Amino acid sequence: MRSDIKICEVKLIDFNNLASIHRTALPEDVLPSFGPKVLENFYKKTIELKSNRFIVAKKQDKVIGFILLSKESIRLFEIIFSYSFLCGFFRVILFKPSKILVAFSQIINKVPLGIDAMEITYIAIMPEYQGLGVGGRLLNHIPSTLKYSNIKFIETKTSNEKLFNYYVKSFNAKLVHQFTSWNNKYYAVKWVLEN
Ligand SMILES: CC(C)(COP(=O)(O)OP(=O)(O)OC[C@H]1O[C@@H](n2cnc3c(N)ncnc32)[C@H](O)[C@@H]1OP(=O)(O)O)[C@@H](O)C(=O)NCCC(=O)NCCS
Repeated sequence: MRSDIKICEVKLIDFNNLASIHRTALPEDVLPSFGPKVLENFYKKTIELKSNRFIVAKKQDKVIGFILLSKESIRLFEIIFSYSFLCGFFRVILFKPSKILVAFSQIINKVPLGIDAMEITYIAIMPEYQGLGVGGRLLNHIPSTLKYSNIKFIETKTSNEKLFNYYVKSFNAKLVHQFTSWNNKYYAVKWVLEN
């Protein structure tokens, strides 16, 4: 385990770092297609909303990976509706319509979140730090982050098959739904939060 990497609380000033990790680690996600301003705005607002929980890994005060846990689906329009969002939206429709179709397919395939569950909305590690155990450390930190809450289950979906297998192996995650979108197979999983 690398002792120079610490698991800590997110700060508002980290929004820039979070947006840049999202852009590089999750390029196939729809949000980066709206442009950097929209992504930064998304993280600024998401940090401010206290119903969301972040677990971040930092190296010398710089975020290198994070988990965003949400209690309910993040309502994108409410969070980042702005002039740049509208411009980005039309740009995606014109130049990357497949992203909108993928996002739409994810919405219709969404499994409703239980009242005693939280969802891993995003987990992402900077590419140069992937495979070093940072993602595992962030995931293992979820129980202590949610210790004094009434959350009993963690839910998430992923098209990353290695990550899906890791959830099953490490947390005894159960597959609750599976669907294919634009040639990508998605796995929706749920596991019991061990406190
Ligand atoms: C998936 C991800 C969060 C895992 O974090 P990590 O720090 O790289 O992973 P760790 O070193 O802690 O290993 C945990 C597991 O992740 C798996 N994994 C999945 N994708 C990986 C990747 N791109 N690189 C390395 N490990 C990966 C590993 O197989 C490992 O399981 P194993 O020990 O059974 O082999 C990270 O690699 C990442 O950000 N990938 C790109 C974005 C992504 O796919 N996010 C999930 C979308 S929902």
